[in-house]
Amino acid sequence: MCGIIGYCGHRPAVPLVLEGLKRLEYRGYDSAGLAFLQLNKLEVIRSEGKLCNLEEKVAKTANTFAPISIGHTRWATHGLPVERNSHPHKSNNDALAIVHNGIIENFQEIKDELIQKGYVFHSDTDTEVLVNLVADELDSVLQINFGKKYVEIQQDMDEAFQKNPELYLPFLEQAFCSALQKAHGAYAVVVLSPLIPQHILAARLSAPLLLGIGIGEYFVASDVPAFLPYTRDVVFLDDREYVVLSAGAYAVKNIFTAEKLEKTVHHIPWDLQGAAKDGYKHFMLKEIMEQPKVLRDCLVGRLQDDRVCLPELDGLPVPGSIRIIACGTSYNAGLWSQYYLEQFAEIPVIVEIASEFRYRKPILKADELIVVISQSGETADTLGALRLCKEKGYPVVGICNVLGSSVAREASACLYTQAGPEISVASTKAMLSQMVLLLLLALYYGQRKNADCSHAKKLRAGILNELKALPEILEGALPVMRDKAKKFAYQYAYAKSFFYLGRGTAYSLALEGALKLKELSYIHAEGYATGEIKHGPIALIDPDFPTFALAFDDDNFNKVCSGILEIKSRQGNVIALLQEGTELENNDLWYIPQTKLPEFLALPAMQLFSYEMADYLGKDVDQPRNLAKSVTVE
Ligand code: F6R
Repeated sequence: MCGIIGYCGHRPAVPLVLEGLKRLEYRGYDSAGLAFLQLNKLEVIRSEGKLCNLEEKVAKTANTFAPISIGHTRWATHGLPVERNSHPHKSNNDALAIVHNGIIENFQEIKDELIQKGYVFHSDTDTEVLVNLVADELDSVLQINFGKKYVEIQQDMDEAFQKNPELYLPFLEQAFCSALQKAHGAYAVVVLSPLIPQHILAARLSAPLLLGIGIGEYFVASDVPAFLPYTRDVVFLDDREYVVLSAGAYAVKNIFTAEKLEKTVHHIPWDLQGAAKDGYKHFMLKEIMEQPKVLRDCLVGRLQDDRVCLPELDGLPVPGSIRIIACGTSYNAGLWSQYYLEQFAEIPVIVEIASEFRYRKPILKADELIVVISQSGETADTLGALRLCKEKGYPVVGICNVLGSSVAREASACLYTQAGPEISVASTKAMLSQMVLLLLLALYYGQRKNADCSHAKKLRAGILNELKALPEILEGALPVMRDKAKKFAYQYAYAKSFFYLGRGTAYSLALEGALKLKELSYIHAEGYATGEIKHGPIALIDPDFPTFALAFDDDNFNKVCSGILEIKSRQGNVIALLQEGTELENNDLWYIPQTKLPEFLALPAMQLFSYEMADYLGKDVDQPRNLAKSVTVE
């Protein structure tokens, strides 16, 4: 889980790569580095900690006008987040520098072999093993073709090369591919070498990598925002493909056959503004506040009068049961939808944590539909679950935000959430958009199953009207919510622990509220089903252990109120989130507007509470410690 970028073009590459890394920093931020060529020698600058440390180092470096550069922002997997483990890593012979996102599973085996051959390692990373493996392959190829190893060639950089700087390109390609064939695991990797000073090579297997197509310039990166100021035209690399880039051309090829491949160029529908803070203090705040727009965008093209249109699914049969698989916040969205899928589609639903599902021996029913939910579309466990189900012959529907991501491409059908880029590491608007799509899914299958039942039709129309009204209601509510969130955050900033309680459709939101609080403010928080609190957890309640309780105006309201009163009678402080028109005896009441879909208001309210709490406590809101935006490792 890291962010990588490579650039070949007519602009000074180093500042451009640094700027691209800033837009990728959400993917990892424990160290960073970049490489470029200076008088045909590899220069590598690396730094521990956030990107600003690297910027300072780069500013002190003489020549940063190189036209080619590669860069990396790291989320540690192998080895501590210290400078010697930061990327780029150079080979022992200085022939290559590599940036890498992923894990080389057989790195130890390869490392042992390389050590036997005399290679020396200065870091604890699998990437340093990979770069030396490519260097070793390169020496073999050069020896066969020129009778010299890299170091000897470098010494005289022969005349033939001066006349034809592309001379060594095919040999480096050959070495790169043969090393990648030996490396098992996951990688998105970019290589820079003095041997091919006008080119970079990049490849992917099970880790995101895309190509930005500019005019007289090309980019490779883990995600679109890295190069968004320069181009919105993108080629998605597939597994086991590599690309050769120069300022004037690119070629995508197969790692095993070197066959040149035709690739489609996609145009990204959002611009830099979509990936900028827009005057907000943090991306997270911007992403919370833009949720009315997200609601609107999610519905575009999905409704026709009282009907839900999901043409992506029209070719698949109506399933007998649905299994939803996801991680983290996306899992919470899935859990929430169980209630609506069972109610409107009348289809039994199981919701699973991807990392658990994929290592069980799950027994799937013949007519099951698998739905995987992933904002990034790159989460390793979710992707692993998707692949497992596909191998077993099951159709898999992906609910995904990132265009062209692995989940989107590998699923039998993909429903895009259309939430736009989510930069803040903590997921906010993506969950809301997933909930919209899942509700539409419930209504869609309800339509297909109960097309003629007028009662069911009326119920569906009723909830659709509620959904359509939400953007405006949320727009009006958000400024008031923010004030309330601030007030409660300051008031409860003393807490070392928090309970979040909800029942029915509020249960999964309680889990999400607790997740947001702990990941942003590092306050311990646990989400519980309100009815479960009396089965043990209530023992923890005292005046210093507050509760955030969701009490929606539904059939559970009275029971939820009893649960809250039980906590209060044990001197527990409670923030109770209620809908207008309902009442509860409690000091700290937080009213949200009346709607039949209160979850779409409660979610932003809780997000704002966690946001304000983290900001008040001086935490790094957009990049909480130890986290990364998409978890591409198991
Ligand atoms: C929490 C958060 C994570 C992600 C989880 C799954 O704020 O963002 O829990 O929801 O890592 O990520 P995706 O949805 O990209 O598969």
